[in-house]
Amino acid sequence: MSSGLQIWHPFTQQSTAPAPLRVKKAEGVYLYTEDGRRIIDGISSWWVNLHGHGHPAIVAAVAEQAARIDHVLLAGTTNATIEELAARLRKYLPAQLQHIFFSDDGSTAVEVAIKMAVQYWKNIGRPEKKSMVALEHAYHGDTVGAMSVGDDSGFTESFQSLLFPVHRVHSAYCYRCPVGKTRSTCSIDCTEKLRQLLERKHGEIAAVIVEPLLQGAGGMIVHPAEFLQRLRKICDDFGVLLIADEVLTGFGRCGRMFACEIAGVAPDLMCLSKGLTGGVLPMAATICTRGIYDAFLGDDSSRTFYHGHSYTGNPIAAAAGIASLKIFESEPVFERIDAISKIHCERLSAIREHPAVGEVRSIGTMAAVELKAGDAGYFSKLRPKLYDFFIDSGVLLRPLGNVIYILPPYVISSAELNFVHDRIGDVLELCAR
Ligand SMILES: Cc1ncc(COP(=O)(O)O)c(C=O)c1O
Repeated sequence: MSSGLQIWHPFTQQSTAPAPLRVKKAEGVYLYTEDGRRIIDGISSWWVNLHGHGHPAIVAAVAEQAARIDHVLLAGTTNATIEELAARLRKYLPAQLQHIFFSDDGSTAVEVAIKMAVQYWKNIGRPEKKSMVALEHAYHGDTVGAMSVGDDSGFTESFQSLLFPVHRVHSAYCYRCPVGKTRSTCSIDCTEKLRQLLERKHGEIAAVIVEPLLQGAGGMIVHPAEFLQRLRKICDDFGVLLIADEVLTGFGRCGRMFACEIAGVAPDLMCLSKGLTGGVLPMAATICTRGIYDAFLGDDSSRTFYHGHSYTGNPIAAAAGIASLKIFESEPVFERIDAISKIHCERLSAIREHPAVGEVRSIGTMAAVELKAGDAGYFSKLRPKLYDFFIDSGVLLRPLGNVIYILPPYVISSAELNFVHDRIGDVLELCAR
């Protein structure tokens, strides 16, 4: 135990939380603790790790880059590493996204997108288009702007006075359909609220922000692809920008490189982070269309995007990002993703009808089981019990209240993944008793 400052852990009630796991090594899908345990990282360390901990190619790239250029500010300078990362990303992104702005984490990528959207309209002479539309159950991060577009929750309640108002529209949470439909009667009617809102107020709205196909922290809610397609269409019909927050969904999580690709949708702005460096160093990016970028050009300094962070475009993080993208090319990453997805589908379909299960959901490498609970939601009493049970069983999962989910590094073996599903099976049996 250290005698230094006491560490205040994120998302943790310090007075009641169990002592943190003391991790001495992370390798592949495993975390090794000082007391001799080996625990599967079933959520990729908050959804960042793609290729397993300590991938030698990423470790080597980081070391090599640190020895060459550690960090140089990105205002007024550039370097081959950050340019190579931008060039490699180009290959995977929708063609109309052409300009990349680097920042530090998912929340800052979202802040940048919101600010770009608002200033874009101001710069083209429409300053009245400045409000945001966001979804129920949305989560976009913990900074003030990102919390404003996130849905109201126990996470945000202490800060209500700081948040800017946004228009809130329905999410396609089919299990608890906001418009009372079932899959057989549904024609994505939940988007009607957005259409009606934009019909009335498009003249004052800058952008709609969405987590494409998968709302993560809000409960691992999987949307039909048609929902995202409809959002795109409605935004186009009314001249409103679409921001896709791919902070979670990017880099293969949903089965393709980006979730937008699955729906065949190109947003106007896209936010990336988490897997951008393979999950090794913090880095984020907001990518926009040429039209948006061009609106910031000109002699008038007030058109400039006055935004930046000290570590923007850090070359060591960029080197990790390049190494991670190279792994997508040199290793069978999408075969691994498909194998995970197949096991998820098989295992979830076997428990779908279990009496303790409300709904099972999956997309790509994410599998979720929503347990029936009288107190559904993040603060469900089930959560700490589930967390402890999984840790004691050798698996790190952090259920979102009554929603248990798995989101593993792509190198997890079928035996390891089945082991994690088996532990969820144990929980269901305990619930049934
Ligand atoms: C969709 C989405 N956007 C933004 C964020 C915020 O990212 P960060 O925690 O890196 O600030 C998250 C984090 O989970 C997220 O899931």
